[in-house]
Amino acid sequence: MSNHSTEAFEALKQRLPDWANRRPIAERYPDMDYGPLPVTPYICEEFFEQERAKIFKKMWLYVGRVERLPKAGDYFTQVIEAVRVNKNSTSPSFIICRDNNGEIRAFYNTCQHRGTTVCWNNHETWDTANRKYFTCRFHGWVYNTDGSLRSVPDEKLFFNLDKTTRGLKPVHCAVWKDFIFINVDPSPRQTLLEQIKPHAEQLKDFPFERIRRRGIWTATVNVNWKAAIDAFQEGYHVGTVHAATLPEAFCGSLNPYCRPTSARIFPQGNRSVTFMVSPDFTPPAVENWVRRRGASWYAAASGDSGSEFPGVNPDNDPFYAFDVHGVFPNLLVDPFIGGFYGHEFWPISVNKTRWIGSINFLAPQKPSDLIANEHGKTLLRDAFREDTVTLEATQVGLESGAIETAVLCDMEIAPRHLYNSVVALVNG
Ligand code: FES
Ligand SMILES: [Fe+2]
Repeated sequence: MSNHSTEAFEALKQRLPDWANRRPIAERYPDMDYGPLPVTPYICEEFFEQERAKIFKKMWLYVGRVERLPKAGDYFTQVIEAVRVNKNSTSPSFIICRDNNGEIRAFYNTCQHRGTTVCWNNHETWDTANRKYFTCRFHGWVYNTDGSLRSVPDEKLFFNLDKTTRGLKPVHCAVWKDFIFINVDPSPRQTLLEQIKPHAEQLKDFPFERIRRRGIWTATVNVNWKAAIDAFQEGYHVGTVHAATLPEAFCGSLNPYCRPTSARIFPQGNRSVTFMVSPDFTPPAVENWVRRRGASWYAAASGDSGSEFPGVNPDNDPFYAFDVHGVFPNLLVDPFIGGFYGHEFWPISVNKTRWIGSINFLAPQKPSDLIANEHGKTLLRDAFREDTVTLEATQVGLESGAIETAVLCDMEIAPRHLYNSVVALVNG
């Protein structure tokens, strides 16, 4: 797999950052504050309430992919704790559906008769259900898939009931390249595209529409949502946390600490980081066999050019593996040559977060693609298990009173930028 002696290899090596003598990312962003970060935003309930009000109730939030809604009447439900009305309110549920005209819509999952939740699906199963109409189980009010109120049993007994004003309450809904977002702000301050602009531009030609989910996992973890995201957007932990699974692939002699080869920070909390695979990594025989037959996961070791996946590797870094796109506030989209993996982080309280991780590949063309995809899925599953294990231990320490600030190094630019962005929004 590696070809250490060739001129091409030497040329690639020359393009690696000068890690021995400088902090390459800080040099790219010299105006950032590189000081210690007070831990209050990870542990303070009042700060969390401000995050809910100023971020989660104001911004576009990713809720699922269009592939979950192929047909008219398909829908799923999503509970979003972070947008509950008051600190102690029950968390609202939403219906995301494809209406009879093919349009994707979102509503509060709340009957406009006496408020009962209309669809009782378990939102953690990722099932898609299908209905011609949404019927409330309490008294049988029936709603069309566009949310309008269709029929009311014994309607004549109501007093001047205007059915046109009693449809399911809509929420703003927008789709970018098959990613569905909703915004509970009645008047969003910006469009979805304005909010995710740097990612939308960089990944405008990435074939997300041809990519399908192959694996998905979830865990509810006692950790602040930002600390949870941070565990998936830096490589500093790879040599330790992933010692059992990944160190040869990502911590070889040219980059023993898994530093990112480049990083980009953007307005409004958006960011992206690129990681390399070690050129001296020799995949085990089985992995080599698999990689010759289809896309597994970190891509460079497969020798693919990536031309089918425009938008990856924005800085054309050598030995490219994958990018981590931090889509503010709570989504990571990590494209690689062959697909992408993703993370959602749903804050439940200041120290509880629901994490959802997924892996997604180009729709398979032949049976061996499925074998290769399964291999990548299993590798990533093992890594995700390792990542999630650190999270609660981090929160316990952050809340212990024994640490006032966190100190971050050059390669932890993404956690630093997320922190700074959240603090700026809460304070300003
Ligand atoms: S609460 Fe839904 S029909 Fe009565
Ligand atoms: Fe990790």
